[in-house]
Amino acid sequence: MIKSLEYIENNKQRFLDELFDLLRIPSVSADSKFKNDVRKAAEFIKQKFDESGVDSSEICETAGHPIVYAEKIIDPSLPTILVYGHYDVQPADPYDLWDSPPFEPVIKDDRIFARGACDDKGQFYMHIKSFESMAATGELACNVKFMIEGEEEVGSDNLGLFVQKNKEKLKADVILISDTSILSNEHPSVTVGLRGLSYLEIEVTGPNRDLHSGVYGGAVGNPLNTLCDMISSLIDENGRVTIPGFYDKVEELSDEERAEMAKAPFDLDEYKKDLGIEAIKGEAGYSTIERTGIRPTLDVNGIWGGYTGEGAKTVLPSKGYAKISARLVPNQDSKEITKLIIDHMQKIAPKHVKVKVTPHHGGEAAVIPTDSQGYIAAVKAFEEAWGKTPIPTRDGGSIPIVALFQKELGLNSVLLGFGLDEDAIHSPNESYGTFNFYKGIETITWFHKFFAEKEN
Ligand code: BES
Ligand code: MN
Ligand code: MN
Repeated sequence: MIKSLEYIENNKQRFLDELFDLLRIPSVSADSKFKNDVRKAAEFIKQKFDESGVDSSEICETAGHPIVYAEKIIDPSLPTILVYGHYDVQPADPYDLWDSPPFEPVIKDDRIFARGACDDKGQFYMHIKSFESMAATGELACNVKFMIEGEEEVGSDNLGLFVQKNKEKLKADVILISDTSILSNEHPSVTVGLRGLSYLEIEVTGPNRDLHSGVYGGAVGNPLNTLCDMISSLIDENGRVTIPGFYDKVEELSDEERAEMAKAPFDLDEYKKDLGIEAIKGEAGYSTIERTGIRPTLDVNGIWGGYTGEGAKTVLPSKGYAKISARLVPNQDSKEITKLIIDHMQKIAPKHVKVKVTPHHGGEAAVIPTDSQGYIAAVKAFEEAWGKTPIPTRDGGSIPIVALFQKELGLNSVLLGFGLDEDAIHSPNESYGTFNFYKGIETITWFHKFFAEKEN
């Protein structure tokens, strides 16, 4: 791998320049206003694959945004790595909270600031550059397939179909993904668990029109008040979700497993300071790491209705809305949980309102076995590149395709992510450290080598 590492060193600036070009394309999958930009990003990536030395590349159309596929098969008898990533990004709103425009990347204090810098453009692009370095120096040790999608941030619905229809094409020995975070640069880690997701929208309707809040207030049920009542009843004083059946299938960890988790470094004071909060809150009986890693939860993501413009308008609104998400853990089924939530909301709705609940996307939780060949190669790669043994961690976020890969392709993923909490993914001023970008390219390169040696 010596020549590849030299190649990376000699091409550092160009790698970054190319990433900047990609970050300039506002590929927001959720907002149809950016549809052409999403395609532009796909075309840009295809071109970069072609320049990086792949055998073939293509833009695969879906019912939504396209998937970019590329591969290089050096020897069918060698192991094959399937790299997954996503080139779509979250909306950058609210724009006025950004210190510099979200789609005009800049470097400040050795960090790249832009929407998608870490999630996931900066991270999947490391794979293309690691690949280029190995291909250019004749050091490729495995066959490589790439599948970079444009709909991760909106639920990956069409990717699921693509995977089902292309099982032969996607045949591989492991899936490699950089779309998660590490504990810190001092304590590198490898993600071994992701939570699932169930996302819904609720519409509560009261009177048939907006009313004068003086003329009717106190006599007619206010759908926004009622929505708040309903929502606040969903979590009890112990931080437990009150929906019947919600915990029925939750995987409980053994005391040994919990003790193992507790070994990961965590500083509660730092955590609170970083978030600007004086106290934390969550399910009784569990630590912060457990609350995000192994416990399911429920949150309001947005709530609106009535008058929210400037000044005051005295109105008793006809409708109230909320977006709600539940984060799920192994053995919970997102479709089942979605149904439990819908049924429960209907059940607790008082007579003075009508409730409509619309399910959005969802996905299943995943756990990666630490005795898999891929995980072992990831540990070796970190040891080589960082001089430290990575700590296994369970992340609170979701990548629904990981469980789907297990189900459809029978393949485990290796979650070789390099983000940090301070990267502020999904928030204004998202960033990615240049150290992590280059260290990530190096670690990925070592992964290829150790995965190729797995049989020995
Ligand atoms: N890369 C994130 C998921 C993530 C972040 C996992 C940090 C672990 C650590 C991914 O792009 C994401 O944001 N996923 C969504 C789910 C999707 C279905 C919208 C999420 O977790 O909200
Ligand atoms: Mn991501
Ligand atoms: Mn994301």
